[in-house]
Amino acid sequence: MNTTVASIPTVDTDRYAKCIEASKRVRWDIDDDVIRGRRFDLGRKFLPDGLSKVNDLAFLSREEKRLLSQVQGRTYANMFGLVERFICAKTMEVSGDHVLGDQVALEALVRFSDEELKHQALFRRLEAMAAAQMPDGYAFLPDPDEVAGAVLSKATWAVLALTLHIELFTQVHYRESIQPDAELSELWKDVFRFHWMEESQHAVMDELEWVREDAKLSEAERDQAVTDLIDLVGAVDGILQVQAGQDAAYFTAHCDRVFGPDETAAIHDTVLAAYRWQYIVSGVQVPRFGEVLTRLVTAEQGGRIQTALAPLMG
Ligand SMILES: [Fe+2]
Ligand SMILES: [Fe+2]
Repeated sequence: MNTTVASIPTVDTDRYAKCIEASKRVRWDIDDDVIRGRRFDLGRKFLPDGLSKVNDLAFLSREEKRLLSQVQGRTYANMFGLVERFICAKTMEVSGDHVLGDQVALEALVRFSDEELKHQALFRRLEAMAAAQMPDGYAFLPDPDEVAGAVLSKATWAVLALTLHIELFTQVHYRESIQPDAELSELWKDVFRFHWMEESQHAVMDELEWVREDAKLSEAERDQAVTDLIDLVGAVDGILQVQAGQDAAYFTAHCDRVFGPDETAAIHDTVLAAYRWQYIVSGVQVPRFGEVLTRLVTAEQGGRIQTALAPLMG
């Protein structure tokens, strides 16, 4: 718990050096390593059941559940492309602190930004491939630059907190849900395997930069940053509500039958619950996120965050 303004910590060069080492070791190419001339196998699922929650909809056939997992999996890739816009911008901004300082930290953060640019290019490619193979009518509604502009207007502390949360759940989703599922499209699964390999280092740097940023803040500034983080979670939920509505409508329009009002409502509610689970709740539950957050905020601030999250926790 933080009650005083700490002095700015020295940069932990060794930890950034390990990130560079890992980044060099796992580095991959979009075409040569990930896509390798393949297409999506639409006979298989994209997003695993534990993330898509399709089994909560018992009235759907096996084929319908598969389609819903593909719609959600397409949005999953687009969501990463979306958040990587502001993550890359913020990483480039915080790397400015090291430009005339620790050159190891600078290199690690430059590699991080470069990887996020590559990931965005990968996710744009996937969206084009999905568009060519799936029925017309899908739309990913949030605009990456507009969302990034709103996110980056908030305190750096809050943006780094949100970023750590995202980059931790990326890893948990892959390790616990995507990797063990043998029924997924091989291309879709490979994309998130390669993505996970480069994301592991990012979470380490998010934490280092978040703690470094925290040490610069007065108590009043940190309190405002907590408010900003709560606002950001609300903004993420706003995006999820819009996209869940869009994706549920696209899915029902492409099933070979008409659903009744109760079924239509259940599809919408399940997609929204799945998105809240994927992009908010599963990240909040990663122990490392809670550990760092608890170290940085007061009990009162932690309580404010809990209260804001409560309606989204399902
Ligand atoms: Fe990424
Ligand atoms: Fe990342």
